[in-house]
Amino acid sequence: MGLIPNAIIDAVIDRTDIAAVVGRYVQLKKAGRNFKALCPFHREKTPSFVVNPDKQIFHCFGCGAGGNAIAFIMRQERLEFPHAVRFLADQYGISIPDTTSEAESPSRQLRDSIYRVNELTVDFFHQLLLTSRLDAAKAAREYLKGRGVALETVNQFKLGFAPDDWEALSEFLKTKGISDDLMQQAGLVIARENKRGFYDRFRNRVIFPIFDIQARPIAFGARALKDAEGAKYINSPETPVYTKGRHLYGFHLTKAAVGKLDYAIVVEGYMDMIMPFVHGVENIAASLGTALTPEQINLIRRFTPNVVMLFDTDLAGQNAIVRSLDLLVDAGMNVRVATLSDGQDPDSFIRLHGVRAFEERLSKAASLFDFKLAWLKTQHDVKSIEGKARVSKQMLETIMRFSDEVVKSELIKKLSEDLNIDKDAVLRQSKPFKSRAESSPQQPMAVVPATVALSLKDEIFLGILLSDPQWAPKARDEITPEDFPHPLVRTVVAGIWELSGRGQEWTGQDVLKNIKDHQAQELVARLMSRDEAWLGDKDIVFKDCVAGFRKKRWHVQKEEQKRSGDFESAVDIIRKIKQ
Ligand code: CTP
Ligand code: MN
Repeated sequence: MGLIPNAIIDAVIDRTDIAAVVGRYVQLKKAGRNFKALCPFHREKTPSFVVNPDKQIFHCFGCGAGGNAIAFIMRQERLEFPHAVRFLADQYGISIPDTTSEAESPSRQLRDSIYRVNELTVDFFHQLLLTSRLDAAKAAREYLKGRGVALETVNQFKLGFAPDDWEALSEFLKTKGISDDLMQQAGLVIARENKRGFYDRFRNRVIFPIFDIQARPIAFGARALKDAEGAKYINSPETPVYTKGRHLYGFHLTKAAVGKLDYAIVVEGYMDMIMPFVHGVENIAASLGTALTPEQINLIRRFTPNVVMLFDTDLAGQNAIVRSLDLLVDAGMNVRVATLSDGQDPDSFIRLHGVRAFEERLSKAASLFDFKLAWLKTQHDVKSIEGKARVSKQMLETIMRFSDEVVKSELIKKLSEDLNIDKDAVLRQSKPFKSRAESSPQQPMAVVPATVALSLKDEIFLGILLSDPQWAPKARDEITPEDFPHPLVRTVVAGIWELSGRGQEWTGQDVLKNIKDHQAQELVARLMSRDEAWLGDKDIVFKDCVAGFRKKRWHVQKEEQKRSGDFESAVDIIRKIKQ
């Protein structure tokens, strides 16, 4: 992605409203001129997250997060700066004229068209499910009702119904001016064999639209109403916007909760994600059918390093877990495996036993080691020597992927004890395995330390500067960023001096845009979020601050001159200080 021009960043900040941006993710309550909310970035029971529409900033007095709308999106959507700007620009219809980016390329245009066709299709099927008088639509409503799916859920997931008709969707899309070619590229229609024309791919089925992490509709899953009617699910083929195994079903609704609760529950199927979610399990997503892929793991890792796998108890499900485990370890993720009763999947389990029992199963999730060992024991006879050797070998394949040597050696010890074999023999067996590739996995996002400790004087000084730009020229000639020992204060002062030096009007917002360090941004947002009363009588305090900084500098100069033997100048300075 090319560099984004400053004018665009300005436009994004000017055209977005912080309350609207944040309000899409958290419930804001009016509190005076501000809004309050439960912080989306840490767990709390009483709101300490404040949005200030006048200054267009947010700040959490609990965890220290803060900044402008771009900073909020970076954190919330886990995007790098340029991607966050583009994300906001897309939502507010601000075009980013960057010829070097993919923005204007044909493939980007095609992708945008497919999103639009998919959106029309989502709405078409959804409306049919909600309102159609067709008998088949009634049957679909009955079917979902029978599975415990409420109207609210239908709306939340935009579930739909595809009528039993070869051209219902294509006829509808035609009226919207969509070409056959585009419908085919979106995977919605199939070319007739030996004839001209196309027919609808999805017919007489309940439709599960699949959204990407940004909530754009990218594909569809379609379930037969009766188990005898062909394949249980028919899914979209791969298209320019949809690659199998790159997305997680439902994650657009749950990624924030995954970040906040700091773990993700991964299930297999559409309904396995939907039913626990509507029962209040907020941090869940579905892999849609098979083992987790590296792309899906990367998606999760943007939000948390912790995963609980919860797949069907059948052989296919357990096999899929085993295949996922090594990839998860390779990615540096912590993984545990939860199990349900025989013959149950998350959907049926939670409807039968309720959310309490479901959470209990999660809390009892086995470690990766315990799960794999137990599973291997069902596959091999560990009473026989060959069986032991096979189990030990397959356990080592996973163990050797851990990067931590202590963990590795402890697990080997545990394995040899469990199988009752000689630890050295296990170790010798481990030789053929290479430990995890040298490429160290990307670290999960660091937890940003809460408010930085810095002196009250520094804080007040910055607070005054940010409260009104007129203060900056009064101090700029005398005080330099280097006068401050704290690196963040230096960064902010340097940013302010730079703005002030341009001779134009500026605001706290401009300071936020002008400094790139996000901890410094948080500091600015924090100081701007306070009631100005804490600054006291600005005139007196400011003079006092400046005098204090001046004095400190003289002291430093004095010491330097003493050390270099220039006592005359030192005495000069002492006189100045006394004055
Ligand atoms: N799947 C698929 N095509 C199939 C079967 C399964 O794409 N023919 C995918 C679907 O995403 C499905 C998941 O694999 O949700 C899990 O399959 P399965 O456990 O067989 O189905 P359930 O999700 O339990 O489906 P349902 O509860 O609707 O019967
Ligand atoms: Mn099921």
